[in-house]
Amino acid sequence: MPTPYVSPSPDVINAAAASLARAQLVAMPTETVYGLAADATNDEAVRKIFAVKGRPIDHPLIVHVAKTDDLSRWVRALPPDAKRLIDAFWPGPLTLILKKSAAISDVVTGGQDTVGLRCPAHPVAEALLLAFAKCGSGIVAAPSANKFGHVSPTTAQHVRDEFGDMIDSSITLLDGGACEVGIESTIIDFSRGVPVLLRPGAITAEAIYAVIGAMPLSRKESAPKNTPRVSGDLAAHYAPKTPLKLLPHAEVFTAADALLAAGKRVAVLAFAAKPKVNPSPVGVGVRNARPLLWIQAPKNAADYARDLYANLRTLDAAGTTAILVEAPPADAPWNAVNDRLMRAAVGAAVVAGKNSKVQ
Ligand code: TXA
Ligand code: MG
Repeated sequence: MPTPYVSPSPDVINAAAASLARAQLVAMPTETVYGLAADATNDEAVRKIFAVKGRPIDHPLIVHVAKTDDLSRWVRALPPDAKRLIDAFWPGPLTLILKKSAAISDVVTGGQDTVGLRCPAHPVAEALLLAFAKCGSGIVAAPSANKFGHVSPTTAQHVRDEFGDMIDSSITLLDGGACEVGIESTIIDFSRGVPVLLRPGAITAEAIYAVIGAMPLSRKESAPKNTPRVSGDLAAHYAPKTPLKLLPHAEVFTAADALLAAGKRVAVLAFAAKPKVNPSPVGVGVRNARPLLWIQAPKNAADYARDLYANLRTLDAAGTTAILVEAPPADAPWNAVNDRLMRAAVGAAVVAGKNSKVQ
């Protein structure tokens, strides 16, 4: 269960800002997921992020800014539609890719001439950015605070689970409670002439349409050539270590049943409650219910997203043979959740290597 929300005191936040100014790393809560932050204007500090995460250096980082920040320092131009989205959604879970100014280093952008900017909506992140503006650059590069390819953290404990001994010794961790959105920000690329949706998130394509009167193109619809590296774009991403299989409703029961009948342990994330008798009419397994971890998922997409990564971590930690996930509906409100689940399914198979088969 998430830790109760306790806001760090102004002294703690000022000390974290001072750490940023000394080129050190700070794990900070945002409304989406926890970020691993470093001074975006200090290459030495930014390199530490890549080292600690094990992230390839050509994967660009998102730069986090305060709402009051003067963006003209960081970008060459702000297209009118990008400005409209900023006015509508910042602070909030929306990252915009824009042509970068010379003040943004190639280390942050992985060598690209664009930069991802986002203004997080979390009181602790907002306070940290304002404190850092007083003693440093005021902008931080921050990817999700997890090892490369792993499930993003949505509580301070998740960050501890990722980085263990490094917390306190080389990473300052600010505990801002459980993240309310739970999945990473929507990314819209404005560097290609037309807006392109690079990563779906809580701010849907429909919500963007409502503000700018145009539907962002999907990555496939936009020119496939020269596509920047987006680690969230890799097929294997956001992955638990246990093989994860996405299944239609009925098959969850039969698959759980078959595994249990074979004496295997199994973990389930489904909309249905854990069956009281048999998972399926032919089932025998649920009589031996101990190896079965069954999490009943929220039916609302926003609630499902909020809990998703914590649920995947719980299911992963259960040490079962397989994680079976009931596929959510295929409609628009579920786009971001379905995107993460599909990547988790592929990623888990890659992590598990030859043990990737569920059965
Ligand atoms: O919600 C979020 O966005 C979280 C919190 C911490 O703010 N951050 C996050 O960062 O998810 P990360 O590094 O895990 O994912 C950032 C994504 C990556 O897929 C990266 O490749 C992409 O943004 N990205 C960053 N700058 C880019 C650029 N200039 N062009 C294309 N993609 C970019
Ligand atoms: Mg990430």
